[in-house]
Amino acid sequence: MSALSQRFDPGFVWGAATSAYQIEGAVKEDGRGPSIWDTFAAQPGRTFDGHTGEVAVDHYHRWPEDVALVRELGLDAYRFSISWSRVQPEGSGRVEPRGLAFYDRLVDGLLEAGLEPWPTLFHWDLPQALEDAGGWPVRDTAERFADYAQIVADALGDRVRSWTTTNEPWCAAFLGYGAGIHAPGRTEPAAALAASHHLHLAHGLAVPRLREGRPEARVGVTLNLYAVSPADDTGRHDDAARRIDGLMNRWFLDPVLLGRYPQDVLEDVAGVGGTEAIRAEDLAVIAAPLDFLGINYYSRHVVAASPWPGASEVDFVNREWPKTASGWDIDPAGLGEVLRQVHRDYPSIPIYITENGAAFDDLEVRDGTIDDQDRIDFVAGHLEALADAVDDGVDVRGYFAWSLLDNFEWAEGYAKRFGIVHVDFDTLVRTPKASARWFAELARASSTKERA
Ligand code: FCB
Repeated sequence: MSALSQRFDPGFVWGAATSAYQIEGAVKEDGRGPSIWDTFAAQPGRTFDGHTGEVAVDHYHRWPEDVALVRELGLDAYRFSISWSRVQPEGSGRVEPRGLAFYDRLVDGLLEAGLEPWPTLFHWDLPQALEDAGGWPVRDTAERFADYAQIVADALGDRVRSWTTTNEPWCAAFLGYGAGIHAPGRTEPAAALAASHHLHLAHGLAVPRLREGRPEARVGVTLNLYAVSPADDTGRHDDAARRIDGLMNRWFLDPVLLGRYPQDVLEDVAGVGGTEAIRAEDLAVIAAPLDFLGINYYSRHVVAASPWPGASEVDFVNREWPKTASGWDIDPAGLGEVLRQVHRDYPSIPIYITENGAAFDDLEVRDGTIDDQDRIDFVAGHLEALADAVDDGVDVRGYFAWSLLDNFEWAEGYAKRFGIVHVDFDTLVRTPKASARWFAELARASSTKERA
């Protein structure tokens, strides 16, 4: 531990992350409108055991306790998301003051606790009314997002400095509109591609709205990036790796950081449809200069060419490899690869790891805590890889653990526990796991730089 803490600058930001639908509950309170996740989770067979975010971990009422937890852990920052349908129940037009007031109180509570608020404006919970009007595949949704960003910035911008526009547009577009395993559950590949473009556009349109009149504002976007490697080094699978890196990483990095879509991916998806949503003039909007890039890193994809002659499909290889309870390979070296790839291929930009963490089956509280050594090992391994990348010149300025609390893990419901703090889903009692104590100690030791 002490050796690890020595590897970070005293100014390195240590934080924990959550998102609105995963923790808030209170879905009908204070005028909140329905989001696509309320609708999706209510449909039979969509989520594990029919779980929904109706109560979640009741953060809407228990937020003072949760803020106190982050303060006790001695972290620097708390990343959360704002529920669009609390602020604008119909996704456009009318503002619900009680919804805004909730985030107003939360921001004040964080600042009083000495924590920096890191709000994300969109973490997947699109207002249902906007989905009814076509959702992300429709251009107008991007314009509505910019208006919503403006409303939130006007309300909180006097106190919030670090803004994130959208979280993991890949998931929102491709899992929501392509694979259909996330809300709104559509399986229309062309719509998924159009959605990804409009998410980019939404981000780009929001950037100036967040900055306007607030010179101290720092604006970024959070992308989920993966290490991608071919199944072997024969060269036979290199094209599969190129395709997946293209669709999962470069399709999102290039427009935002370079102002263009990767040509090879445009060619790969040419027959799918959806790219007619891209207008040449959008790219300059999407590439609005940013203050930081948020990266969520969880795992690596190992890919192989489809064995079927002439097929363009890619196989995802299941390696014999240590896995988390989500079945994701534990691959800290992949974080280093992702960081070096961004450093090598894009203009220099400060990076924050806005999510990293793991689900493990830590169910039992014993002697007032949970011994989640597997999570400690996971985080320590990833932080070593991160520190190695920093030593190589990559500009990484902070790390947010996903997640502060066990919570509603989307289609997996409450079955996957990512928290450094355990939540009993019956009583809603919070209990810091051993990993929370370890993380707190690491943050403290690194910030004060006590030499062993
Ligand atoms: C990310 C999401 C986050 C959480 C983690 C495990 O893709 O941003 O909400 O579900 O995965």
